[in-house]
Amino acid sequence: MTTSDMTHASKIVILGAGAIGQLIFHQLSAYGVMPALLGRDASADSQTLEFTNLEGKTVTRQAQFIDKSMLASCELLIVCVKAYQVEAALLPLLDALPTDAHILLLHNGLGPHLSVAPHLAGRGLSLGTTSQGALKLGRWQIRQTGAGLTQVGHAQGPRLADNLRQALLGAIHNSEWCEPILPMLWQKLAINIAINPLTAINDCRNGELAGAEFEPTIFALVQEVVTVANADGITLDQAQLTERVYQVIQLTASNYSSMHQDIHHGRQTEIEAITGYLLSRAAKYSIATPANKAIYRQLKSLERGN
Ligand code: PAF
Repeated sequence: MTTSDMTHASKIVILGAGAIGQLIFHQLSAYGVMPALLGRDASADSQTLEFTNLEGKTVTRQAQFIDKSMLASCELLIVCVKAYQVEAALLPLLDALPTDAHILLLHNGLGPHLSVAPHLAGRGLSLGTTSQGALKLGRWQIRQTGAGLTQVGHAQGPRLADNLRQALLGAIHNSEWCEPILPMLWQKLAINIAINPLTAINDCRNGELAGAEFEPTIFALVQEVVTVANADGITLDQAQLTERVYQVIQLTASNYSSMHQDIHHGRQTEIEAITGYLLSRAAKYSIATPANKAIYRQLKSLERGN
């Protein structure tokens, strides 16, 4: 395939070829839309990717890897890198990305939408969250481990074109368009705030947080989220949110949270975009968040120990 063929084919580009980036690649490909991938470490411009679905069926697909110079026909850039990588990965691409291209940020936590927004020069921005599970079996081999909900919605600038929105929702099972999207992202943030650091600090599976000894901490963490969200213009219901946190604890009882896994493997965690984001919004409104501050400090010292 020549460079111009590739450029022509790449209306949807996925930035970040980790487990979630590869999962979205397979889902869009199965739907009949062939996205290109833009990742740091592809050794060739074409790579065979292997995917095992929830039913255990394995397929392989050929993925085109492109670089910045091939973004000219990109209409939608789906950013699947970790929250702490978004700025460094996305900003250097903007001068090569058409001014009418749309950007979708799909990561755990919140924050990068605020730091990238001033650089988008009028481009449309959507935000999303996915609870789909994908496990990397090898660099280019993934297995889907959960069919969790994916929620996407408009954030700023021109809206995502209907055909691209349909492709996205059609390709990703159990996905929905949400307007406004920020309350959904805050709900997911609350779940991550209540579960992720606690499982990392206590070196336990999600299910162990159902124990009575964690109840006061989980209650305090969620209460602080509700207070800060309300100051930020997002109405959350404390009782409903707490119930949702316990539902997720039950549904994912045998899982190790992503933060637990990051600590376990000596990787940087997403704490800055999770508890860190809450603390920064709380500071903006001078709201005291002692429970989250304490958890943040413990997690940071665990991360430093790594
Ligand atoms: O980050 C995670 O691990 C997940 O978002 C969740 C929902 C906490 C389940 O493990």
